[in-house]
Amino acid sequence: MAEDARRGPGPRGAAVREAVMLLLCLGVPAGRPYNVDTGSALLYQGPRDTLFGYSVVLHSHGPERWLVVGAPTADWLANASVVHPGAIYRCQIGKNPNRTCQQLQLGSPHGDPCGKTCLEERDNQWLGVTLSRQPGENGSIVTCGHRWKNVFYMKTENKLPTGGCYRMPSNLRTELSKRLAPCYQGSITAHRVRT
Ligand SMILES: *[C@@H]1O[C@H](CO)[C@@H](O)[C@H](O)[C@H]1NC(C)=O
Ligand SMILES: *[C@@H]1O[C@H](CO)[C@@H](O)[C@H](O)[C@H]1NC(C)=O
Ligand SMILES: *[C@@H]1O[C@H](CO)[C@@H](O)[C@H](O)[C@H]1NC(C)=O
Repeated sequence: MAEDARRGPGPRGAAVREAVMLLLCLGVPAGRPYNVDTGSALLYQGPRDTLFGYSVVLHSHGPERWLVVGAPTADWLANASVVHPGAIYRCQIGKNPNRTCQQLQLGSPHGDPCGKTCLEERDNQWLGVTLSRQPGENGSIVTCGHRWKNVFYMKTENKLPTGGCYRMPSNLRTELSKRLAPCYQGSITAHRVRT
């Protein structure tokens, strides 16, 4: 016994090595090859200098198929004086021979109230930097702008870059969209001020 151990990796050691190799081959998941169809690709183009295509999701609603595209430095058609707020676009797949896309206006172009201790700054907010869609039929779409800022405390030279998101229903009716501000702590701040 002791002699076996001293001899080190003999035929038995080789057998163990082979077994480990076999386990590695069986246990490690292999990559799966797939082909990208470049021949019949659908090409959609957006306005220049908007980072159109920074984020993309495929979307369907009933029989309609859409490509939803983020362009985080786009200007708004509905209010050109907001500085590069970013936007998302919808591009219909099928029945769209000219491959046109339409800008979706999330949030009021005039501005929205955002809380008791909140004043929004939408300039350079990078709306459309991320896009995601709930799985399944008629899932809603969420897009965010991580550089949205609360400038309520500007008098104390603080801008709070908490970011913001919008959730839009599957029918892409932007007037039914809801703003999400998970990092805004308006009620906590208001409480501290009162006490
Ligand atoms: C999804 O939307 C389509 C079109 O509005 C509607 O006909 C269908 O019932 C919806 N499905 C679900 C599961 O809500
Ligand atoms: C596609 O573009 C051409 C040329 O600009 C135009 O004549 C045609 O009406 C457009 N088609 C659609 C469905 O918009
Ligand atoms: C456009 O946005 C700016 C900045 O938020 C705002 O001051 C202005 O009133 C808006 N203009 C219109 C026409 O909504």
